[in-house]
Amino acid sequence: MHKNRLRLVGALAVALMAAGVGTGVPAQAHDKPTTLADLAQRHGRYYGSATDNPELVDEPYKAILGSEFDMITPGNGQKWYATEPQQGVFDFSKGDEIVNLARANHQRVRGHTLVWHSQLPDWLTSREWTATELRAVLKKHIQTEVRHYRGKIYAWDVVNEAFNEDGTYRETIFYKTLGPGYIADALRWAHQADPKAKLYLNDYNVEAVGPKSDAYYKLAKELKAQGVPLHGFGLQAHLALQYGYPTTLEDNLRRFARLGLDTALTEVDIRMILPADETKLATQAQWYRDLTEACLAVRRCVGITLWDYTDKYSWIPAFFEGQGAALPWDEQLQPKPAYFAIKEALKK
Ligand code: XIL
Repeated sequence: MHKNRLRLVGALAVALMAAGVGTGVPAQAHDKPTTLADLAQRHGRYYGSATDNPELVDEPYKAILGSEFDMITPGNGQKWYATEPQQGVFDFSKGDEIVNLARANHQRVRGHTLVWHSQLPDWLTSREWTATELRAVLKKHIQTEVRHYRGKIYAWDVVNEAFNEDGTYRETIFYKTLGPGYIADALRWAHQADPKAKLYLNDYNVEAVGPKSDAYYKLAKELKAQGVPLHGFGLQAHLALQYGYPTTLEDNLRRFARLGLDTALTEVDIRMILPADETKLATQAQWYRDLTEACLAVRRCVGITLWDYTDKYSWIPAFFEGQGAALPWDEQLQPKPAYFAIKEALKK
């Protein structure tokens, strides 16, 4: 009996060896290909993509979304207009669809976004509010949404796009009615509702060191000194070839790390004036490589998220006339030079 079992184990080992298991034989064609997420994880980072509800009927699209990435951001489904379409009436169906899909694919989720001047419901923007009223509205919105997703969100973009290009506060309904303190309040309220979620401020045109990123640096320093629950700074990184690469990105990420904050590239795309050509796509690939390397070079740059992964569903053509081709996969879901450049950067 004992002898037989040993013989069986031996035979099994021989069979496994013949199949190339455990022998250090390189991955064969039938193995899962290495994904951006796999490679990022080797560096303790994530590679993510935004997605949006209408696209979730596209099965080939969903297959890549579910396999290549390990972090998901709802592109619209968690915004105020979607989640509180009437005052006090909450609808989390759009956000839930994406959060549930991500969880089924063993992906984490960045929540986006709680306080923003854009994509607000009409009931909020079409009347005047006293400070007392708006404070209550804001607190209820934040806490209802964050509580709904408690335990399911890795990080929240709590306040989005709070500053102007020159580093002054953007005159949003929240700033004008409540003053700059709305930011600390929003962070505290979100923290009460989900103490484990990482809380971020997030903006565009903050990749380079400059007046706008300086404003965040100063604010973050103050908030940390006051013990406000702020954990990260999100740099959207909606870049454009015609404006040049933000060469101070790495230094910029590093100064926020020194404040004790995580950083992340949260909405990356690199648009170009259409038509795309080989030269532009090569430059774009180089920029994707460079920003990936910048994140890997800085402690506490925790990951990178593409603002969707394919040109098929990019927001760029609808918002920037004559521009597009901004993502690492083309409209046919085929990888572009940028995809291979990211992989090379992650393999180093
Ligand atoms: C965009 C979405 O991708 C579009 O579908 C929507 O129509 C407008 O908003 N900065 C942000 C994102 O923080 O929420 C924006 O997303 C892109 C710019």
